Amino acid sequence: MRDELQLDAVVVNAENSAPGGRGITRESGSALLSVADFLTLGNHAFDAEGYEEFLEEEERVVRPANFGDKDPGQGRGLFEADGVSVGVTNVLGRVFVDRTKVSPFEAADRAIEELRARGADLILVDSHAEATSEKQALGYYLAGRVQAVLGTHTHVPTADSSILPGGTAYMTDVGMTGCTESVIGFDREDFLSLFMGDWRGISVATLGPVVLNGALVEFDPETHLAVGIGRVQREWTPGGAQGRLQ
Ligand SMILES: [Fe+2]
Repeated sequence: MRDELQLDAVVVNAENSAPGGRGITRESGSALLSVADFLTLGNHAFDAEGYEEFLEEEERVVRPANFGDKDPGQGRGLFEADGVSVGVTNVLGRVFVDRTKVSPFEAADRAIEELRARGADLILVDSHAEATSEKQALGYYLAGRVQAVLGTHTHVPTADSSILPGGTAYMTDVGMTGCTESVIGFDREDFLSLFMGDWRGISVATLGPVVLNGALVEFDPETHLAVGIGRVQREWTPGGAQGRLQ
């Protein structure tokens, strides 16, 4: 896909890349970094064993900036892509998410200030939140101050990709990568039981084709404004042919 779409940079949300479907491990993070430039996380950042060392040693990964200052890892980071310095931060929403009391709006303000001071030409904010309204509000709050505000966490891609005033690419949720016949990537029967009141735990789904969801953002190299955004979606049947949806 890097060749096909002529991508200069790839940022991946890796918070549920661990084999159990929650958190990140050294193995899952390293595998993703063999094809991507930078990783973001979310509320499950610390759920898998071994995360601590990986987050302390690897500079190409950020956990939510509104976690505690003493928590492992960084909430913001930079990488170079084709001579352009790209700053990335990850902020966690608070509506229907209990993990942090620190506002994602304030956390984003602080991260942007630091990334600009460190020379970022472009800034991408991974808006990791449950409520679409909170993500929309953050998009408008940051419009014109960063180049992209892309949502994650709810796993279902939204059809609202747009360029906000001031040249900020926006999408409420870029969607997940996982099995299509699932409930947000988990076994659909397990999840159904949960909603029916029978908590028996949930396991990663194995049914149906595998789908990769994302967003493709184009920036003007001179002005550093976002000039285009669209959805990217690819479907594969394990052992079968690669499908192409969009
Ligand atoms: Fe999440």
